[in-house]
Amino acid sequence: MKIAIGSDHGGLNLKTAMKEVLVAAGVEVLDCGTHTIVSVDYPDIAQQVATAVTSGVAERGILICGTGIGMSIAANKIDGIRAALCTDVFSALMSREHNDANILVLGERVTGVGHAGLIVQTWLTGEFQQGRHSQRIEKIMALEAGCDKIG
Ligand code: RB5
Repeated sequence: MKIAIGSDHGGLNLKTAMKEVLVAAGVEVLDCGTHTIVSVDYPDIAQQVATAVTSGVAERGILICGTGIGMSIAANKIDGIRAALCTDVFSALMSREHNDANILVLGERVTGVGHAGLIVQTWLTGEFQQGRHSQRIEKIMALEAGCDKIG
């Protein structure tokens, strides 16, 4: 599996740590930056990782900022992205099984590195359960397409 990962300056340390978790899990990593502590705008990084996912360059993505909030707001503006901000292992699993989340978002100032590693490992192996969940994903895609009435 290939994962695109990106952070702003507020998520840089956790990005470095999560890259090690990914490599240890046998994942190919595409690092979309940032690479220094110089302040950057999180939507720029969110767009790079999201585009890597929607274009098929990477199967999924991980975004990290201080809280994870800005990255998740920005990434979810992009059609085809289902970005899940997760602060616990259960949510990470559900984001894969129920929501088919293709981007995991973490907050460096919220989640400790050890917990974040477990969240990443869980999210990597979680599989979309399809069934009743598929029609809900289809409705999300209909919202993206601008459908007036989906229910
Ligand atoms: C940067 O200071 C911070 O605002 C950013 O990392 C993130 O938390 C935004 O949601």
